Amino acid sequence: LDNGLALKPPMGWMSWQRFRCITDCKTYPDECISEQLFRRHADLIVSEGYADVGYEYVIIDDCWLEKNRDNKTNKLVPDRKRFPNGLNVLADHIHERGLKFGLYQDFGTNTCAGYPGVINHMALDAATFANWDVDYVKLDGCYANISDMAAGYPEFGRLLNSTGRPMVYSCSWPAYQSEVGQMPEYESLKKHCNLWRNWDDIDDSLESLMQIIDYFGKNQDSIQPHAGPGHWNDPDMLLLGNYGLSYDQSKLQMAIWAVLAAPLIMSNDLAKVRPEIKDILQNRAVIAVNQDPLGIQGRRLLMKNNIEVWRRPITPTADAEYSYAVAFVSRRVDGAPYAISFTLKDLSLNNEYGYGVQDLFEPNSNLGVFRSESHFNTRVIPNGVNFYKFTALGN
Ligand code: DGJ
Repeated sequence: LDNGLALKPPMGWMSWQRFRCITDCKTYPDECISEQLFRRHADLIVSEGYADVGYEYVIIDDCWLEKNRDNKTNKLVPDRKRFPNGLNVLADHIHERGLKFGLYQDFGTNTCAGYPGVINHMALDAATFANWDVDYVKLDGCYANISDMAAGYPEFGRLLNSTGRPMVYSCSWPAYQSEVGQMPEYESLKKHCNLWRNWDDIDDSLESLMQIIDYFGKNQDSIQPHAGPGHWNDPDMLLLGNYGLSYDQSKLQMAIWAVLAAPLIMSNDLAKVRPEIKDILQNRAVIAVNQDPLGIQGRRLLMKNNIEVWRRPITPTADAEYSYAVAFVSRRVDGAPYAISFTLKDLSLNNEYGYGVQDLFEPNSNLGVFRSESHFNTRVIPNGVNFYKFTALGN
């Protein structure tokens, strides 16, 4: 969507994956979907250093609404107990910290969790979002006819735009199409949305993560060409800092999300993220790959012996076509780190002056210079990733 926003994949934090629809603030005061949760996370994004590396949007997902609209005005009403001060006060808190405010709604009659959706009140809701100083809208697609989405999602986008307030527009429409075997209309998505959820929801497990990675690999011919500044494919939230991924599997998600030019939207309790996981989330070298200004989404280049090679072209520093980020992913479970060897030519890295190589998880590393005939050797642990930057060298 050409609204001048999301020229790089959006970065931020969203409530859903970690906090779902916890509404019982008496039993779970630190976890329920409430003003407190979002205030606390806005504070933590700044105090824990996430804002310094680019995390920006604080996004309320489902379960923030009252069950009914206001019976006189039809306006949406935030839950009176959990958001007692309304959303403007929260938006101010977020904005005062230099961050941006995101809000969830649903295209259908109801959100997935059963709260009122936008379908019969689109103009009113778009105006309300603007009045609440919203900067980012996630529009889900439960309780809706999929056949209405091709017209309805663009229509809500136009209504957001006509408020005059710049709002990033995240569309879930293709996730609902792909669920029933329909091919998403990527040209229309590019035109009308800043990002879109291509497929299934992520859950807190390696299995779920690998299913999503497989989907993006298998369908890359139809998905990959559509990403670029202002319009991104979204494989869903980062799981890092939760329960399901090990340290090494956390690197795997971060690396593949960087290759995919995916939005980096965390969903965790930022007060409880262990320091070594925080280091992965805040790895500036990996984030720089994710945020590369060319905005070219990477692809799975080859698969051999249960090793996958993923490669993304990034901005060159020398007078060459591209530098590259390359992730070697092991799907093997046979214990010992698996030794692999590729020539740079095998990876289609043919810059005539070769490449300087850096391990992106060891940011000060310098592995030397490699040319297209050189062999690059590495060992990958089970369900692990090794992630390198190949910087094209000049004469
Ligand atoms: C489905 C979406 O894909 C999730 O990300 C989340 O927003 C839930 N709905 C909320 O109900």
